[in-house]
Amino acid sequence: MIVLGIESSCDETAAAVIRDGSHVLSSVVASQVSVHHPYGGVVPELASRKHIEAIVPVVNAAIADAGITPEQIDGVAVTQGPGLIGSLLVGFSFAKGFAYGHGIPWIGIDHLEAHINSVFLEPNPPAFPFVALLVSGGHTSIYLVTSHLAFHPMGQTRDDAAGEAYDKVAKMLGLGYPGGGVIDRLAAKGDPTKIAFTRPFLDKDQFDFSFSGIKSAVMRHLQLHPDPSQTDQQHIAAGFQAAVVDVLVHKIINAAKVKGCSHLAVVGGVAANHGLRNAISHDATTAGISVHIPAIEFCGDNAAMVAAVGYHRLKAGQHSTMEEDVYSRVKFRPVAN
Ligand code: KG4
Ligand code: ZN
Repeated sequence: MIVLGIESSCDETAAAVIRDGSHVLSSVVASQVSVHHPYGGVVPELASRKHIEAIVPVVNAAIADAGITPEQIDGVAVTQGPGLIGSLLVGFSFAKGFAYGHGIPWIGIDHLEAHINSVFLEPNPPAFPFVALLVSGGHTSIYLVTSHLAFHPMGQTRDDAAGEAYDKVAKMLGLGYPGGGVIDRLAAKGDPTKIAFTRPFLDKDQFDFSFSGIKSAVMRHLQLHPDPSQTDQQHIAAGFQAAVVDVLVHKIINAAKVKGCSHLAVVGGVAANHGLRNAISHDATTAGISVHIPAIEFCGDNAAMVAAVGYHRLKAGQHSTMEEDVYSRVKFRPVAN
């Protein structure tokens, strides 16, 4: 089955073509970073306008890169929420029209469910059940995953998402938006023990997170030591990253132990972080747990992960109707399997 995936929930317009749920024939991502960079964050109205400009060329490029014709597509999967309403509407309306025009089924996909399924784009996917740490710009949560379409929330952030904390710290250091990649690169050159930031574990046996405290600690440090040199910036980045990574790694490994899972997954934009990838691989291996992290290109927002979920939902006979609408806030649909 060939599925066309479409993603437009935030500041990336993406389309991908997937065969049988995991074989990526093409994946095209048009980033809007340069559009939002001057504003230090995503400007929703600009985002939707850019999606409108990009959607047709991006979908055409995905179909061309896959070496197929539109007639060979069996179904369409599109992000339905959560995300920016205006942005979501562009991809969602396009998918409706494309499916209607070609007389094929289509299905709205939850963005978080798509991130979790991004590990199945890898040659060595996890075995069910496994625990998943979803770390992105908008979300930080842990799930017990019992099938491609069934997720049981175990914990989530009570305030900032991990990626949001990265972005805010980067902004405080005057490093622009988005900040994750920049902080990651700086941290690699700094000494994580030079400036120790507190680790907000909350209850060490629970799975909720809180990242606004670390962000405030960095702000207080900068108030006391303004205008950091490049070396100081590297130490701040390293200290901040070490604090975030320690908490994330502790909680996901503990979740795997509590649920008796021998596999864990780390997904979402922050899963691209080198400090996190290294630490989780090291500590999980020591604990006898096998780690699954998507390739960097499938950590951030992309449409291959959307098509991967779409394959399983369409195969199960599910499809969306023209009356359906997008949604902005997290709402995992109830699942029976
Ligand atoms: O999954 P994603 O592309 O979009 C959301 O669904 O939110 O995640 C974007 C987030 C941003 O906050 C960005 O700063 C962060 O992922 N990010 C990183 C890295 N690359 C992207 N955070 C830490 N280290 C990175 N290397
Ligand atoms: Zn995302």
